[in-house]
Amino acid sequence: MGTKLIIDTDPGVDDALAIALAALSPDVDLLGVTSVFGNVPLDRTTSNARRLLELFGRADVPVAAGAARPLVYSKPRDAKEVHGGDGLSGHSYTLPEATRPLEERDAVRLMLDLLEAADEPVTIAPIGPLTNIAALLAAHPGAAAKIARLVIMGGGVTFGNSTTAAEFNIWSDPESARRVLVEEDVPVVLVPLDLTHRCAVDADWLAKLAASGPIGATLEGLTSTYRQHYTRVFGEDRMVMHDAVAVAEAISPGILHTETYRVDVDCGLGPARGQTLVDRRRLGEDDPQFSPGRPIEVAMDTDLDGLRGFVLDRLTGAAR
Ligand code: BDR
Ligand code: CA
Repeated sequence: MGTKLIIDTDPGVDDALAIALAALSPDVDLLGVTSVFGNVPLDRTTSNARRLLELFGRADVPVAAGAARPLVYSKPRDAKEVHGGDGLSGHSYTLPEATRPLEERDAVRLMLDLLEAADEPVTIAPIGPLTNIAALLAAHPGAAAKIARLVIMGGGVTFGNSTTAAEFNIWSDPESARRVLVEEDVPVVLVPLDLTHRCAVDADWLAKLAASGPIGATLEGLTSTYRQHYTRVFGEDRMVMHDAVAVAEAISPGILHTETYRVDVDCGLGPARGQTLVDRRRLGEDDPQFSPGRPIEVAMDTDLDGLRGFVLDRLTGAAR
């Protein structure tokens, strides 16, 4: 019945669009959603995830809560200034209450159970800090064999957003990110800021989403604070749907064009903490200037209008 998928998320306005993309796509088998701290605290990201699934008519999808903080160091700050105090531009009240109870299992247990029960490898789309994924792989190394790919929104090739150097999801828990991106052996596609920014949507795209029906109107209504943030960033009315770009690749493999680069994560405590070091020099291991890091796929390009159309069609039901 299509791609088997688990989303690990910290909703978050762009997370909301990403969850919608998977939940509303008939060719996706959304097995579960796990929550993590990030844009707002864990209790909020968890309730946002549950209420979003209710909006999408997907009370069949289990939600389990995961990490409330990073693995090693406590987290200095969240992203309320970008996503609003409730994570959804102050509009989470427009979402229906969740009818499905929160799982008693935690996020790691739910992911493990879903992986073990699956008859084929499962794609996981981590679109928040990587704490739950690091915990899963550390505690249950055998789980890796059941993961088809981790399609991760995170990092930057040439710039950061939380700091000059670091992107928010990686900066939020660099030790977990390094474990997953560098030290593990699971196939990874990293979807960095460089590409998500180029996929930004405009007022016309958002107007079409709002006009598509009650779900589209509610989703568009969640974007106000977030959209204002990106209008300030770009100097014009455009909005970045980071996490939806990653989920597009998770459900439509190859929609993003990837290149293989060695990647490392700065876990120092200086100004580059959380930076993804994407080595584009393509040096051989015998080169004196070679630096280590794991070769992973990094999404560098896509058909930008095609990608925007793909996401809009799925969100508005045009693809159904
Ligand atoms: C990432 O950080 C969060 O604020 C977004 O939800 C996205 O996952 C972008 O840097
Ligand atoms: Ca996110």
